[in-house]
Amino acid sequence: MGKRKTEKIVFENIKILDAGAKGVSVAKAPDGKVIFIPNVVPGDVVDIQTLKKRKAYYEGTAIKFHELSPFRINPVCQHFGYCGGCKWQNMNYPQQLFYKNQEVHNNLKRIGKVELPEFETILGSEKTLFYRNKMEFSFSNSKWLTPEEIASGEEIGQKNALGFHVPRMWDKILDIEKCHLQQDPSNQIRNEIKKFANDNDLSFFNPREQEGLLRTLMIRTASTGEIMVLIQFFYEDKSKRELLLNFLSDKFPEITSLQYVVNNKGNDTIYDQKVILYKGRDYILEEMEGLYFSINAKSFYQTNSEQAYELYKITRDFAGLTGNELVYDLYTGTGTIAQFVSKKAKKVIGVEAVPEAIEDAKLNAKRNNITNCDFFVGDMKNVFNDAFIQSHGHPDVIITDPPRDGMHKDVVMQILKIAPKRVVYVSCNSATQARDLALMDEQYKVIKVRPVDMFPQTHHVENVVLLEHR
Ligand SMILES: C[S@@+](CC[C@H](N)C(=O)[O-])C[C@H]1O[C@@H](n2cnc3c(N)ncnc32)[C@H](O)[C@@H]1O
Repeated sequence: MGKRKTEKIVFENIKILDAGAKGVSVAKAPDGKVIFIPNVVPGDVVDIQTLKKRKAYYEGTAIKFHELSPFRINPVCQHFGYCGGCKWQNMNYPQQLFYKNQEVHNNLKRIGKVELPEFETILGSEKTLFYRNKMEFSFSNSKWLTPEEIASGEEIGQKNALGFHVPRMWDKILDIEKCHLQQDPSNQIRNEIKKFANDNDLSFFNPREQEGLLRTLMIRTASTGEIMVLIQFFYEDKSKRELLLNFLSDKFPEITSLQYVVNNKGNDTIYDQKVILYKGRDYILEEMEGLYFSINAKSFYQTNSEQAYELYKITRDFAGLTGNELVYDLYTGTGTIAQFVSKKAKKVIGVEAVPEAIEDAKLNAKRNNITNCDFFVGDMKNVFNDAFIQSHGHPDVIITDPPRDGMHKDVVMQILKIAPKRVVYVSCNSATQARDLALMDEQYKVIKVRPVDMFPQTHHVENVVLLEHR
């Protein structure tokens, strides 16, 4: 079937009405259809050129601004508009919180269709910039060129870039000079690596041809001041690898953990790769309320450490522990929530799929002198069965913090079967959380809801729900 050419239409003087899912704003076309449009703020009045026409909606772009929204602010980042990272940097923070709260509310109402209490006020993040503790950058020898660079007509010399994938272009990398998401020395480390690699002819990866030495860079920073840097190479070249790693460790002696991976697979995920320690130790330490958590290259740790502390306090508060409860912490990761609530519980059982995370959880508990937490590894839908409950005891409270997909149906059914008094459901995706709440509605009433913003400048939002058995 031939590809139908999309007719491009211009709609004039359209008011932007709402900020929708995925950080894209929403307007209404004169024919009544919805238009999805990026890089505008509710309240702007614009001319819109459509880019795609679908049955129920258009996708478009603003080509002229007639009025600017009172919620608009100047984005601080020079890469705004091209980088997919901080789509809401042009909207003031209170308004970002308003739309995040609305998103959670709409999802719980429309998808969950459950009776809701009045929400507790969404908790904003004190830091709205430089709040991330983990960033991953990609090397590419096919830098994405901005329209300005193309329009300038100037010869673009070498096209090496170290930065982020441009949305919808898998092989193009936006070169980043300054990212506002991670504290220093993140920017210095990345820029020094790029300069050194260019000066010393270390080749940048070409994803189409599958060639080039340097693939990815991960930087983790912790509230303790510790820093982890991991470089992923495509193939082993000992002299070039050591040249770069030695340069880094000389230039940034503050790096606590310098590691690397040699990965010649098609994709660049490091989770199935051997991570090799080059200098320092193979983990960094994060601290929270006097508890220390070691984080290795593959560990999951909430990416906004300060706000994770707030999230965990709300979770512990919702759990309403008195010291006598048996608590299950499902999807425990490295056991952070389990350990965080352990002082207020009789015993906590943590379950998680990633074996390395459970090893860390056990080590962390030992380091923190916690003796009332036990951790188990396995896929939740298999591990969390009747035999498991029989051997570890019937939980009074379940805390659950699943990945974006939410809980497997079997896990929800098992919770319903064992029917603990309270369930605290922490979620980074209120749509799947709403789906799960609907499944639980007959037995569980939603008592409290509190969205928490872990990711300022983006549309993402975390949500904590307290459920009580009816
Ligand atoms: C959102 S994280 C929560 C981690 C932890 N609660 C925290 O705050 O650091 C979700 C966790 O679920 C784990 N996970 C994903 N799918 C799983 C499954 N099917 N069974 C068990 N754990 C799973 C992931 O490895 C990850 O550690």
